Amino acid sequence: MNIDWNKLTFHYTETDYIVRAACKNGVWERPYATRDKMIPIHAAATGLHYGQECFEGLKAFRGVDGKVRIFRMEENAKRMYHSAEGLLMTPVPIELFCEAILLALEKNIAFLPPYETGATLYFRPLLVATTPDISVGPGKDCEFVVIPTPIGPYFPNGFKGMPAIVNRTVDRAASQGTGCWKVGGNYAASFRASEVAHAMGYECMFTDAKTHKYIDECTASNFIGIKEIKSERLEAKGWEYITPRSNAILPSITNDSLMTLAREMGIKVTRRRIRVDELADLQEAAACGTACVISPLTKVVDPDNNITYIFGDKPGHILTKLYHALQDIQYGRVEDKHGWCTIIE
Ligand SMILES: Cc1ncc(COP(=O)(O)O)c(C=O)c1O
Repeated sequence: MNIDWNKLTFHYTETDYIVRAACKNGVWERPYATRDKMIPIHAAATGLHYGQECFEGLKAFRGVDGKVRIFRMEENAKRMYHSAEGLLMTPVPIELFCEAILLALEKNIAFLPPYETGATLYFRPLLVATTPDISVGPGKDCEFVVIPTPIGPYFPNGFKGMPAIVNRTVDRAASQGTGCWKVGGNYAASFRASEVAHAMGYECMFTDAKTHKYIDECTASNFIGIKEIKSERLEAKGWEYITPRSNAILPSITNDSLMTLAREMGIKVTRRRIRVDELADLQEAAACGTACVISPLTKVVDPDNNITYIFGDKPGHILTKLYHALQDIQYGRVEDKHGWCTIIE
C-alpha cells in the first residue's frame, strides 16, 4: 500500500476489503469481509429498476491520542433503518450495521489516515433490493455492503467559504416525497440543478418543491443560518442558530450535533421554515454535513429576484467556533461528554 495521505480528495480510493451481508426471505446472514469489490446482482433486481436502495456516510478519525473514533455510528444505523422502511425494504438491524462498520474498520485499519493529515476513513454503507421482479413493487431480499475509503480533508487549505445560488427550476425531492430518507433517487434528481449551478461557479441551494419560497438544503447538506438577536433598542443580546424544518430534507447528524453544541454555548436554536429573503437578516450562513462539518457561504445569489446576499469571504466567528468544537470531539482533543464517539483503542 502506498497512499500519499496529503493528496487524498473526496473520491474513491480502493481499500483491501469491503463488508457484505445478504438478507434472504427475511433472514440476515452475518456480515463478512471480502476482497472482492464486485457484488453479483440479478439484472431484474428491483434495486436497479425501481431505485429501491438507500445508503449512508460516516467517518472514523485517528485522534490526537492515537485512538480511533467513529462518529455517531448508531445514528447512521437508525437513519438507514428509516430510509429502508420508507422504501419498504428489509431494514438492516442496528447491531448488524454497527458490527459491519467495526469489521470494515478492523480489516482496513491500514487505510485510516494519520492524525496530522486531517484525512479520515469514510464508510459508505449501501442497501440494495436484490429480488428479481419486473412488476412494479417492492422486493424484500437485499444486499448490505459497507465500502470504506480514505478521504482527504474537506478544507485542505484551511476552513473557508463557498458561494451558492438559489434554485427554483429543478426540485430535488417532493415536499412529501423521499427527501427525508437517504435514497439514491434524490441525488440523481439533484444532479441537473447542481451541474447548472457548478457551471456558473456556485453550489446549489434547493428550495421547497411546493412554493419555492423556503430554503430546503444547500448542496447535499443541511442549511444553517446565524442571526444576531437584538433588543428593542437594537443592542446585541446574543445569537440564534436557525435551520430549516421541512419534510423534504435529510435529518443531518452533523446538524443535530451542532445544535447541541450551539445550545451549550448559550446560542438559541430554532428549527423552522426559513424564507429565502430572510437571508438578508442573517450574519452568517453555511451548509453542514459529514464531509465538510461546516461549509460557510460567502454569498447567496437569488437570480429570480436579482438579489445577492453577501456574507463575506471570511467565515463568521460563531460558525468557526462551532466547527472547531465539533472537530475537537471527533479528534479526541476534548472530552466527548455526549458519548458520540465509538472509541477503539
Ligand atoms: C441531502 C443531504 N443532506 C444533509 C446531509 C448531511 O447529513 P450528515 O450530517 O448526517 O452527513 C447529507 C449527507 O449525508 C445529505 O446527503
